[in-house]
Amino acid sequence: MKGIILAGGSGTRLYPLTLVTSKQLLPVYNKPMIYYPLSTLMLAHIKEVLIISTPEDTPRIERLLGDGSKLGMKLSYAVQEKPEGLAQAFLIGKDFIGDEPCAMILGDNIFYGNGLGAKLGEAKRTAEAGRATVFGYYVEDPERFGIMDFEQKEHQGGYCYRVRSVEEKPQHPKSNYAIVGLYFYPSGVAGMAQKVRPSARGELEITSLNEMYLENGILDAQLLGRGFTWMDAGTFDSLRKAANFVCMIEQYQGMSISAPEEIAYRYHWITKEQLAESAERYGKSPYGEHLRAVLENKIVI
Ligand code: DAU
Repeated sequence: MKGIILAGGSGTRLYPLTLVTSKQLLPVYNKPMIYYPLSTLMLAHIKEVLIISTPEDTPRIERLLGDGSKLGMKLSYAVQEKPEGLAQAFLIGKDFIGDEPCAMILGDNIFYGNGLGAKLGEAKRTAEAGRATVFGYYVEDPERFGIMDFEQKEHQGGYCYRVRSVEEKPQHPKSNYAIVGLYFYPSGVAGMAQKVRPSARGELEITSLNEMYLENGILDAQLLGRGFTWMDAGTFDSLRKAANFVCMIEQYQGMSISAPEEIAYRYHWITKEQLAESAERYGKSPYGEHLRAVLENKIVI
C-alpha cells in the first residue's frame, strides 16, 4: 500500500508566517507540522510515501525529510504547480501509485488517540480488499468541511456505518460529521480521479471522488469518537490550538507524540544504531532526549 501527503496550497490564511516558508514546516509545539501526518501514515504501516507540495516548498520539505532512509522508508517528492484540488494528488501520483491501493493525508491534519493504529489497519485491509474508507469526526461548524450523512447499524457486537451521502461544505449540512483529511482507496484510484470534473470553485474535489466510490457501493466509513482528536492546523486559531494540545499531551504524559523515528524503531524499520544516530542529530532538544529514552528502553510503549 502506498501513501501520499498532500502538503501544498498557498497558505495565505497564515500570512505573513507562510510568506517564505511552507505551512507544513511551521511548528506545532515542538516539531514541524508534517511530522504529524507522516507519523499517521507510518501507524498504518505505510512505508512508501509521496510528498506533494508547491514548486517552492517541495525542496524545503525534502531538505527536512530526505529520502526516508533514516526512517527505513522510501520517501519521494512531486510538485503540484497550482492548488487545483485534493483529488489532483492522485493524477500527480499516478506512476507512484501504480496498481496498488493508496492512502492520502493532508499535510496539516493532526490525528491523536489510543487505538488509532488499529483503525488505520482496518482501513488498510479494507482498501486491499477493494473498498475505500473515509473517517468521520464530530464538528460544530459542518459548513466548513466535507460532510457525510450516514446510518448506524449494529455489527459484530459494535457498530458499522453506511454512508448515505457526501457533500462538500454544504449550506444545509445533513450531519455534524466532517470527513477528515485522511482517505484510503483501493487499487485504481488514479483512474477514478481522472473522471473527476472541476467543481463550481474550479477544484478537483476529493468529495467528488468519494461520491464516485459511494455510487459504486464501495465507500466505507469509520467514526473517530471521543477518544480521538483530529485537527487541521491551517489557521492561526487552529494552529495555536494544535500546539496547545500537543504541549498538554506531552507534558501530562511526559513523553513525545508523533515522533517518526520512534515509530520506525518500534516497527523494526530501523536498527538501534540508526535510532541512536537520529537521537544524536536532534542534539540536546527534548525531541532528542525522547529518542534517547526510547533507545534506553525507559519508554516501552
Ligand atoms: O480538513 C478536512 C477538509 O479538507 C475536508 O473535510 C474537505 O472535504 C476537503 O475539501 C478539505 O477542505 P479544506 O477547506 O480544508 O481544503 P483546503 O482547500 O483548505 O485544502 C486542505 C489542505 O490541502 C491545505 O493544507 C492546502 C492543501 N491543498 C489544497 C488544495 C486545494 C493542496 O496541497 N493542494 C490543493 O490543490
